Amino acid sequence: MSTATEALAYNVEKTRKDFPILKREINGYPLVYFDNAATSQTPQQVIDVIVDYYSNYNANIHRGVHALSQEATDKYEQARKKIQEHFNAKKTHEIIFTSGTTHGINLVANGFASLLHKGDEIIVSALEHHSNIVPWQILAEKTGAVLKVIPMNQEGELIYPAFEELLSEKTKLVFVNHVSNALGTVNPIKKIIDKAHQYDAAVLVDGAQAAPHIKADVQALDVDFYVVSAHKMCGPTGVGMLYGKEEWLTKLPPYQGGGEMIATVTFEKTTYADLPHKFEAGTPNICGGIAFGAALDYINTIGIEKIAAYEEELLHYATKKLLEIDGMEIYGVSKEKTAVISFNINGMHPYDIGTILDKLGIAVRTGHHCAQPIMDFYKIPGTVRASFSFYNTKEEIDVFIKAVVKAKTMLT
Ligand code: ALA
Repeated sequence: MSTATEALAYNVEKTRKDFPILKREINGYPLVYFDNAATSQTPQQVIDVIVDYYSNYNANIHRGVHALSQEATDKYEQARKKIQEHFNAKKTHEIIFTSGTTHGINLVANGFASLLHKGDEIIVSALEHHSNIVPWQILAEKTGAVLKVIPMNQEGELIYPAFEELLSEKTKLVFVNHVSNALGTVNPIKKIIDKAHQYDAAVLVDGAQAAPHIKADVQALDVDFYVVSAHKMCGPTGVGMLYGKEEWLTKLPPYQGGGEMIATVTFEKTTYADLPHKFEAGTPNICGGIAFGAALDYINTIGIEKIAAYEEELLHYATKKLLEIDGMEIYGVSKEKTAVISFNINGMHPYDIGTILDKLGIAVRTGHHCAQPIMDFYKIPGTVRASFSFYNTKEEIDVFIKAVVKAKTMLT
């Protein structure tokens, strides 16, 4: 083994032991979980942290002088620090806890309502999830700003020169995902950010699908906002992160009013708390935040480079095998893609294929994947989407391929 290969050596069987759910049977078959782009599974190490929180130190944070409240506050703030370090934010208060990616995007879109004017332009990409389209449409309606779209090509990639043509002095904001949830395409976000900054436009990157596979360094990217969900990266649902550059977070007004986000309240005037609390009204998902930190610990113990290299192997293996099936059409064939395969066979309905796979214990997602404009582009109602994680195996892919062939035979 070369040193490089050794460095990437990775024991998937050891990893699988950490995930109790992988022992489950579905419809009498061992579970093959290939819906990781929808949500990832949770290792015992993270489950233990959740149980420990509710068993030993459940309390509200930032509010009590009592020991439990302080313990919970310390753990929650330690998690914020872990998130800061993982994404390499300059300051801890640039990390805002959210309920997930959608919340983070809406928080920013809402804030920009007071900064945009009629005729300003905002740019979104054709590859976005609905959560990175609809909030900006609402913002455009509220402010009179004009929403423009970076087009995509047949390979499922953004057409970068078209983006350059859309930019002008009127451009105020650009939103793009790091990785497409429907196709797995990795977008050239560094190039997009640098170009947008030449026009003084801010850039928000939806990192929900990238964060489990690619280590995003927000300072190196020089991105203005980066949003993720913990549940895509071995953490619980209902918690996520908004990273914002301090200068932007200071400029944006609060998203929600309530307890914890204030400095002083009188009926004449309320002043707001400093960052990050200005954006964290109400009792947050305390346990979720702490578990998010534990999920990052877990991923970093394995190493995101190892995870990415292993998942790439799975992607190539499965792509090759699927393409051996007659009538197979794979959507999204960018050279830069994560382990997501969206496909259809001979016009068969994706839902029918997904239902047969489920009967055989295989979990995939079917439909438009909350990305209807992509489906419209390909003129299809939806796809079957298999998305792999670092606890999946080639043996599972073999089972999946056999099941797809069986589904095809049954539906022919
Ligand atoms: N956004 C998630 C997905 O792509 C739910 O499935």
